[in-house]
Amino acid sequence: MANPAGIPPTDLGHQTEPLREALREAIDRVLLSKQFVLGEEVTAFEHEVAAFLGVAHAVGVNSGTDALTIGLHALGIGPGDEVITSPFSFYAAVEAISRCGATPVFADIDPHTFTLTPDSVREAITARTRAVLPVHLYGQAGELDGILDVAARHQLKVVEDACQAFGAHYGERYLGTLGDVGTYSFYPTKNLGAIGDAGLLVTNRNDIADSARHLRNHAQTRRGYHDDIGYNSRLDSIQAAALRVRLPHVSGWNEARRACAARYTERLQDIPGITLPATAPGNRHIFHQYTIRVGGGQRDQLQQAMLGHNIGSVVYYPVPLHQLPMYYNATLILPEAEAAAEEVLSLPLWPDMDEATMEQVVNTLRACVHKLKLPA
Ligand SMILES: Cc1ncc(COP(=O)(O)O)c(C=O)c1O
Repeated sequence: MANPAGIPPTDLGHQTEPLREALREAIDRVLLSKQFVLGEEVTAFEHEVAAFLGVAHAVGVNSGTDALTIGLHALGIGPGDEVITSPFSFYAAVEAISRCGATPVFADIDPHTFTLTPDSVREAITARTRAVLPVHLYGQAGELDGILDVAARHQLKVVEDACQAFGAHYGERYLGTLGDVGTYSFYPTKNLGAIGDAGLLVTNRNDIADSARHLRNHAQTRRGYHDDIGYNSRLDSIQAAALRVRLPHVSGWNEARRACAARYTERLQDIPGITLPATAPGNRHIFHQYTIRVGGGQRDQLQQAMLGHNIGSVVYYPVPLHQLPMYYNATLILPEAEAAAEEVLSLPLWPDMDEATMEQVVNTLRACVHKLKLPA
């Protein structure tokens, strides 16, 4: 039966409802401890998440954006340095590069995975390039091995933006653990969400971990003494406590997302004018988003038509970052990123999406595409 209230782009119930008692107990523990910032809960979460990811150090911070900024800062990236990154992503990584005083350099993306390619990175390297910042968009990386190889050959640092890819495998390892620094967001809509803002930086390098811990707490050496311009980016205990409750469930949720994505792919195969998401070799996609491409310049019309049937969908992202006013350069043309911004549409997806809801999305999408007569 059709859901008369409509279908939202996402539903966070699975992260809360079955775990409500455990979350309440965790919050209560924090209240009783009277330790609200950093402290035992944060340290315990850092150990547990580092063990989960198979990485030496995990440093809890206020957000994925702060993890990116502090990661770049800890690697010594600053004014005069260039960092190669994706023009087709959420804005945070570019903000982080600019906050450090460095210059983002945009390289074009692969049209299937929406991520940087080894060739595009290689072509963007100059004498000032210090780092590459690939974004594992929608829950997978592209040819990360190739990018790591280019970085190694040119002695570039690698900061992975795995904010949308917590728990996604690349080969035998988790995304975020392959570069010098990996960063995650626990914004509530993420595959592993907190109950507010939270983020994480991971690294296998002792010096980077020490530096990140120092920077997140105002670069304080001891009370009242500071030796750098740092950040107030200490993870809240209540967020760490909630994340400890949810962490053991994330692999199951990711599996369930993958199963939903497979059902979409099976049922949307033959719709003309629609390109379905592809999983790149070596990746185990966790479908933070199930993102299709809509041809014929009719993406916005399709989105509106579906909304007319109360089905939500989201455009991640409508403006390629090199076309934002702060970074605009009339001579820079990145055709794949520009085309993606005009064509992508993320469909509703969450781990416990039921059959009737999925059927409603599929049938509505099919009917709307038929009405719009998209070119095959
Ligand atoms: C790809 C990507 N990078 C970075 C971030 C920033 O994370 P946060 O919102 O926790 O600062 C996000 C969050 O939406 C993201 O999707």
